[in-house]
Amino acid sequence: MEKRESIHGQWSSRWVFVLAATGSAVGLGNIWKFPYITGENGGGAFVLVYLLCIAVIGVPTMMAEIMLGRRGRRSPINTMRHLAEEEGRNGAWKYLGWAGVAAGFLILSYYSVIAGWALAYFFRTAAGVFTGQTADGVGSIFSSLISDPERLITWHTIFMVMTTVVVARGVKGGLEKAVRYLMPALFILLIILVGYAMNTGAFQQGLEFLFTPNFDKITADGVLIAMGHAFFTLSLGMGAIMVYGSYLPQKASIAKTTVMIAIADTVVALLAGMAIFPIVFANGLEPGAGPGLIFQTLPIAFGQMPGGELFGSIFFMLLVFAAWSSAISLIEPMVAYQVENMGMNRIKAASWTGMTAWLLGLATVFSFNIWSEVKPLSMFETFADKTIFDLLDYLTSNIMLPLGGLLIALFAAWQMSRASSLDELAMKDGFFFKVWRVLIRYVTPVAVSIVFLNAIGLISIG
Ligand code: PFF
Repeated sequence: MEKRESIHGQWSSRWVFVLAATGSAVGLGNIWKFPYITGENGGGAFVLVYLLCIAVIGVPTMMAEIMLGRRGRRSPINTMRHLAEEEGRNGAWKYLGWAGVAAGFLILSYYSVIAGWALAYFFRTAAGVFTGQTADGVGSIFSSLISDPERLITWHTIFMVMTTVVVARGVKGGLEKAVRYLMPALFILLIILVGYAMNTGAFQQGLEFLFTPNFDKITADGVLIAMGHAFFTLSLGMGAIMVYGSYLPQKASIAKTTVMIAIADTVVALLAGMAIFPIVFANGLEPGAGPGLIFQTLPIAFGQMPGGELFGSIFFMLLVFAAWSSAISLIEPMVAYQVENMGMNRIKAASWTGMTAWLLGLATVFSFNIWSEVKPLSMFETFADKTIFDLLDYLTSNIMLPLGGLLIALFAAWQMSRASSLDELAMKDGFFFKVWRVLIRYVTPVAVSIVFLNAIGLISIG
């Protein structure tokens, strides 16, 4: 087969792809979301299920997604359409691309609001607002921020503009530089924070919470949340990694790159957990405090450690960068599609998408204040106390991404010929390829289906 080129250009090397994909994967999911959902779902057992999902579902699916992207060399919608045609399959597969674009758009709407919190915290920490504060003081600073829609809208707007500008200019140049230096810096700061946590007196308790599995504490819904998070944190199931894969040079090995990205992503999440839970326990806070968890814990540490203002502000700045490089990948599939099919230039496509996502983001802003009592699905038990933000998060992470991932796995495993996969993965027809085929054909689809059926109560395990 003659090899295609993407009209949007190509990464200058495999290494740049690794950086960009890591930039997409490492974000609020690792540092903001992983700790708070771990806290809400009882700790150790949840973490174990999450790690298992990364290994047996996440890694094979990521390989499949990159493979499809590189073979299609177009936005996810067009990639799915063309690959289905090329393999002689049903044209309806293109709707998988559409579902992904929709998921990315919905995620971006709330992602930008939370990234806005991190922006606000950068300035607060730099100004020394947390210095010498008690846990209560830090908690009330957080409450006063989220109860003020105007301030939230301001930060949300700034972050959305930042994202749109980068996407409008094309994701390659700036992103590469940002990720090359900022990701390692974030990593080092997390290690410093873990070092601080070791001295809080509750390090042991924090580690036990994270790593001692107590299966009584996890529910069927908890298992679904752990699996959904594996997709979310690796940016899978919606075409973000697929579109990045479409810019990947032909020869690069997909398997090695995937394993590197998955390891980096997991290490960052675990470090965040190891930094945060000791602070939670040392200060008598609630692990299940919800989405505010890192904003109510880390500032306590920054307020007390020497040089905390500096470390703290650098930390939140790096968190903003991590969120930025993820947010970019959330709209890239949509922008690539608009450029390919609707004759728009990148600037117009990115502005339009950013503006609409911004508008929808207002629903998330209000979920924390004037609409905090609005529970649209209160008639269903599982969703009874979920705000609009909670529902958006649940719908995207726990339903859309795993379903998207399942379909990507099914397409790669059952609709693409063995020869095409072998060719595109650039692997030898040996042991590792066989393992991947078994995982993607049987293990991933069966595991995702079981978790779904279990969560909606159609089957009951454990
Ligand atoms: N992986 C990102 C994070 O962990 O913050 C979020 C994300 C980015 C999810 C891109 C999905 C996606 F396509």
